Amino acid sequence: MFAVEHEARKSHGRIRERRTKSNQRDPILSARLLSRPEPFNREDHSSFEGETTMVERAPFLNTAYSAYYHRERPTEDEELTRVGPGTPCGEYLRRFWQPITLAGELGELPRRIRILGEDLVVFRDKRGAIGLLELHCPHRGTSLEFGLIGEKGIRCCYHGWLFDVDGTILETPGEPADSTLKDRLFHGAYPLHEHAALIFAFMGPPDNRPLFPHLVTYDLPGYKIFARAST
Ligand code: FES
Repeated sequence: MFAVEHEARKSHGRIRERRTKSNQRDPILSARLLSRPEPFNREDHSSFEGETTMVERAPFLNTAYSAYYHRERPTEDEELTRVGPGTPCGEYLRRFWQPITLAGELGELPRRIRILGEDLVVFRDKRGAIGLLELHCPHRGTSLEFGLIGEKGIRCCYHGWLFDVDGTILETPGEPADSTLKDRLFHGAYPLHEHAALIFAFMGPPDNRPLFPHLVTYDLPGYKIFARAST
């Protein structure tokens, strides 16, 4: 495999060299060639992985049945593919309840997850309440992935601040006795809804939160919804 890759790279190097020489002889032809991708080799398609820029149609193929490597590919349309905060699709998806994890995946430890481009932590406290909080503690930024799940909420493992599932700061040990931090501030949290072994989150504007949609397909006679993690 490595030998093949090495040969392919050498071959591409020779092609590049020939193109450079050709450039000196015929600048117009060479400019066209240089603007195109190199001919592809079946074994060397590493250059395709993760590419997002426009690739022009390759001029020549050098293996049989290799049209797969000859397709034109469009550039990424970020208006359609990005779902982080503030993006068109991200804001659209945030208007609906989204399934974020399986209920069965909430165990003794908090679970770090990335949903719609946001790093979060999801957990079920010992009362049975479920929470989805911003990953980093508002005090000094420690990851709540390492927090301690308590009877009520989750406690940061660094200085011990305690957060309820709705973002209420319940305790701020280490702060002066007259500190009003916990009465004035909240940690970022999203509402959750548990249904049919799934946990759904609403990550949109709180004032526009819709009721959880109870679809008729959830209750088809003779059917039972179940979910499992993909492997
Ligand atoms: S960093 Fe979390 S309590 Fe200090």
